[in-house]
Amino acid sequence: MRTANEILVALGSEDGRRDPMPLFAELHRIGPVCRLEPGSSPYAVVVNGYDAAQDALKDTRFHRLLTADPDPKDAVLRRLGGSMMFRNEPDHLRMRKVFQAVLTPRRLTGFEPVVEALTAELLEDLGKAGADGQVIDFVDFAYRLPITVIGTFLGIPRSDLGWFRDRTKAIDDYLDLGGKAPERLAAANQAADELNDYYARMLADRRVRPTDDLVSSLVDSELAEQELIDNLLVLVNASFVTTMNLLTNGLELLLDAGTPDPSRAADYVEEVLRHQSSVQLISRKASVDVELAGETITAGSLVLILPGAANRDPAKHPDADTFDPDRQDLQHLSFGAGPFYCVGAGLARMEGRAAFSQLFQRFPQLKLAGEPVRSHSLLLRGHQSMPIRLG
Ligand code: HEM
Repeated sequence: MRTANEILVALGSEDGRRDPMPLFAELHRIGPVCRLEPGSSPYAVVVNGYDAAQDALKDTRFHRLLTADPDPKDAVLRRLGGSMMFRNEPDHLRMRKVFQAVLTPRRLTGFEPVVEALTAELLEDLGKAGADGQVIDFVDFAYRLPITVIGTFLGIPRSDLGWFRDRTKAIDDYLDLGGKAPERLAAANQAADELNDYYARMLADRRVRPTDDLVSSLVDSELAEQELIDNLLVLVNASFVTTMNLLTNGLELLLDAGTPDPSRAADYVEEVLRHQSSVQLISRKASVDVELAGETITAGSLVLILPGAANRDPAKHPDADTFDPDRQDLQHLSFGAGPFYCVGAGLARMEGRAAFSQLFQRFPQLKLAGEPVRSHSLLLRGHQSMPIRLG
């Protein structure tokens, strides 16, 4: 049996990134919280058991990791570090409340017809591109839907959306395991500066020309200008690769499982998220000594939580590796849990429902036309390309 250290190294390898699930199973055989050899990794433990991961996510004694330097020289650290995603209390909640206040369930419900219409429009384009049995890449649609949805919600003009893809990817690559290499850091810094300027211009514009978009609702909030910019950057970043992955992971699973039924889209979304968590790594730091599943985690230690492993915990879900939208007790930790629970879960679910119901209604003959290629990221589990034929 391999040690947790050896399994963690294997997770970072090409094979581990492509298919971490057998490694998660190995961790489950060791225990819900696996201790790493001191000094071998920045982390003291890996948390893979479902209950332990849920407890850790909910436990406010585990803090988010922040940069030690309050004024880092790297732009990417300044921008990320200024957002709710990389803050602890009281700043985290102060910022989160502002965004929750504009992302209300009512506003979301009101936005649902827009999400449905955008989905229909983008599927119309997909239909044109894939006419006459032409092989097309589903990743293009899976990218365009969430970026168009969040862009429309925020008020970013359609013509600017293409510009966001590489910049957002540069920041995601930096956040991945091994992402701190100099060339990745330089790309992420440049992207952070460019995005900063974009949002600053947008906020300045909405102050003088308010519309009914989300950015206009935010300009009068209690947050400082730079706080708004940093949070907008993180909101857009958090919103679309995750959702894009839900769509590509879902299509692959659903086509593999047989003929998808468009009326079951809501169940599909949940089971896809459980089976292939879009986010695979969540880091925390113990602020005091904490006991988790019988292991003492000493103050200052780093903890690596694996939601994708927790979702496959055999102690939580019978036959956990099987994709089964009929499963009872379909719970997962793919949106996190507790104080940092995903602010956009409702929007992401709405997009997943719209995409899976309309896609299979409109293209019942849809098939894979080649082997899907997984993206390299371990943090964000999804695909680089997914050739399909519409029928
Ligand atoms: C399938 C799609 C999505 C997945 C799987 C996902 C997953 C997650 C997870 C796991 C967290 C918690 C991170 C932690 O505990 O440290 C999180 C937080 C967050 N998500 Fe999402 N997310 C998705 C879509 C979205 C969307 C559409 C938005 C924006 C509209 C969004 C905005 C955020 C924000 C702002 C946070 C930080 C919350 C906080 O710090 O309190 N996410 N997301």
